[in-house]
Amino acid sequence: MENGKHVMVIGGGTMGQGIALVCVLSGYRTTVVDLPAAIPRIRTGVERFLADRVKKGKFSAADVQNVMGLIAIEEDLSAAASADWIIEAIAENFDAKKKLFSDLEKAMKTEATICTNTSSLSVTAMAAGMRNPGCVLGLHFFNPPAVMPLVEIVRTCWTDEATAAKAFEFVQSIRKFPVLVKDTPGFIVNRIARSFAVESLKIVTEGIAAPEQVDRIMRLGGNFKMGPFELMDMVGIDVNFAVTRSIYRAFFEEPRFRPQILQQDLVNAGRLGRKTGRGIYSYETGGKK
Ligand code: NAI
Repeated sequence: MENGKHVMVIGGGTMGQGIALVCVLSGYRTTVVDLPAAIPRIRTGVERFLADRVKKGKFSAADVQNVMGLIAIEEDLSAAASADWIIEAIAENFDAKKKLFSDLEKAMKTEATICTNTSSLSVTAMAAGMRNPGCVLGLHFFNPPAVMPLVEIVRTCWTDEATAAKAFEFVQSIRKFPVLVKDTPGFIVNRIARSFAVESLKIVTEGIAAPEQVDRIMRLGGNFKMGPFELMDMVGIDVNFAVTRSIYRAFFEEPRFRPQILQQDLVNAGRLGRKTGRGIYSYETGGKK
């Protein structure tokens, strides 16, 4: 099953854990790196994923062993010395990502590529000042990575044809559908998605309709799989808020992208969506309420 290449995923949260499993299932030896406190949660997440596959009859005991043999969960960046692809999926915070890139530059092999899964931050600014800014590009996966086929490959002014082509092949090798996009705030999907989120928040804040009504209407009338509030809870209210703020700032405070106070209130209350058991909806008893 192993294809000889090594992927390192930094940040094993909602996205990083999913991306790592996608890579492992395509035969990549994969190292997930996170802060010490997060390691037990990531282990449990991987075990749960495997148990679910076995329960559904999709995985045999040998498949489980194969996956366990390909995945490692670590606390430091030493795996960067042998990684061919480094995928950063830590929190949506520019300074944290920039600091990580500077640490990685010292630890990685020269021919490796650093990819950021940022939803909204400038990949160009993240690469600026590095010894070889051409080794950085965006690989924007969608949530949940195991299910969503699209990956935006974000090209900066330093990305040459050969690197873009290599990224295209890599994304295809993990059985995803690559699209090449320019480094512009929110790229394509998240720029369009701002209207979906911000207008829905305004409709609720203005008392025009309740979240469940908006969600139902958009499912039935727009043929969306999820309404905007269901999607916000899945993405994470904190992540969605950070993305909205960053796109708003990047477009010089363009009013149509302005974040809404309801997002801030929910973040302040720790109601971050499914991951905390409560966001717009409550998930505390298992299902959505
Ligand atoms: P999350 O909050 O679920 O996970 C972030 C993980 O990074 C946590 O496990 C945290 O412990 C770890 N972390 C933080 N700082 C670290 C560091 N310095 N070194 C190692 N690990 C560190 O966040 P999520 O939702 O997975 O988002 C990650 C990135 O993916 C963000 O840039 C976000 O914008 C992007 N993204 C998120 C999507 C979503 O639907 N949640 C969709 C597409 C992209």
